Amino acid sequence: MSAPTVTRRQALQLGAGAVGAALLGFGGPGAYREAFAAGGEPLPRLAALPIDRSDPGVARATLVAAAGTTAVAGERARILLYNGRFPGPVLRVSEGERTELAFHNRLAEPTNLHLHGLHVSPAQDRPFARIEPGESSTYEWTAGAGTAGTYWYHPHLHGQVARQLMGGLSGPLVVTGPVDELPELTAADERLLVLRNSTRADGRMLVNGAIAPRMNARKGTVRLRLLNAGTAEYVRLAFADGQTMHLIATDAGFLERPVELSELLLTPGERADVLVQLKPGSSRTLRRMPYARAGGATGTDPEALLEIVAHPQAKPTPLPGALVAVPALRATPGTAVRRVVLAVNETGEYTINGHVFDHHRPRVEATPRSGDTEVWEIVNEHTSDHSFHLHTWPFQVLDRDGRPDPYRAWRDVVNLRGRQRVRIAIPFTDFTGQTVFHCHNADHEDGGMMAVLDVTARRTASDSRPLASHTERSSTHAP
Ligand code: C2O
Ligand code: CU
Ligand code: CU
Repeated sequence: MSAPTVTRRQALQLGAGAVGAALLGFGGPGAYREAFAAGGEPLPRLAALPIDRSDPGVARATLVAAAGTTAVAGERARILLYNGRFPGPVLRVSEGERTELAFHNRLAEPTNLHLHGLHVSPAQDRPFARIEPGESSTYEWTAGAGTAGTYWYHPHLHGQVARQLMGGLSGPLVVTGPVDELPELTAADERLLVLRNSTRADGRMLVNGAIAPRMNARKGTVRLRLLNAGTAEYVRLAFADGQTMHLIATDAGFLERPVELSELLLTPGERADVLVQLKPGSSRTLRRMPYARAGGATGTDPEALLEIVAHPQAKPTPLPGALVAVPALRATPGTAVRRVVLAVNETGEYTINGHVFDHHRPRVEATPRSGDTEVWEIVNEHTSDHSFHLHTWPFQVLDRDGRPDPYRAWRDVVNLRGRQRVRIAIPFTDFTGQTVFHCHNADHEDGGMMAVLDVTARRTASDSRPLASHTERSSTHAP
């Protein structure tokens, strides 16, 4: 079969089913506890992708995409799955390890696999590949030093991304490194949360495939690796009762030190890693807050995503001080600022620099030289938000509408509000080839808001001077 079709009736049935009782209680903050008492199932733990490590330094794993039946929000559903799991299993490797991932397409339709956020060669990532039903393909890469973080894998076949993602295909990818061994981090109860829309198009956000599950914290501090794997959802997260969180990492790496936040916006494709210090015996609800995309509000009421029940005795453990060094980036002298314009044309098509992406004739919109650090000025001429994403090369946001970002962070996704202008710095380290940048709202991406960059070899070794680069990131703490 192809992608599951979701009928209005199915969506209504879901609302009227077991979860209906829980939904009825969502009137105000006080109602949440009752709602959970009525319906909160335990937070599902994601399956680990089995890894063969019989050769030292090499991690071998197999991923199979196939239609299958599994539980989605407590009900059986026939959807698209990686290794029979929804969400897909967690591929967990460490810095310096070489991964060989064998991918088999057992769907009834073509697909491909994208390693979102990883600094891997375009020749491996292959966003233009088309893997036919019954075909296989192998992906090989080495997770570089300093790349510890939360990433993900998902289909990238142009025109089919939204449907295949929505159908169930996505899974997390974790790279661990020395920074994860900091005692303040190992002292926390670590959980990975995949946030995504239900395959049933009922508008609910699922957390690891469940609706508003409950987590019993085993420690006084929890570490949440958050991934927005939704097709187009803007997820503005905040705890009820004034509970704050400390951001320690963004998409493609750790911050220099924790940053306290009262809320956090994850646009499609984004990740965040936060520490939450809990008062013993307390119960805290992580909620999805309304977010107004210019030109149309998303949701009007807070939606409970997860209840965290603190350990009755464990006191919150301290936060780490320094995490890693995040170098300030400067453009390589002689490189021009590149302009990338996101817009919607008169006929309602999504464009980059005035062009609708055509996978039969992809236009090269940027030709950086490998080794250079470039500044890109991304301009959103549309009145609504777009979530800019670049493959292979993580970047730092310099400023938004001229206002510098308050802390340095490695990202591979940056949201642009309607009419916003954002400048980013991109170190084009050590890979060449063609890959893409696009809006990570999968409907917009499929609709043409995508373009190609072609990174070419530097002219000579001597006419480009080395700059602070992604691969030179290092941990500041002693091993
Ligand atoms: Cu996660 Cu090109 O995308
Ligand atoms: Cu990507
Ligand atoms: Cu968009």
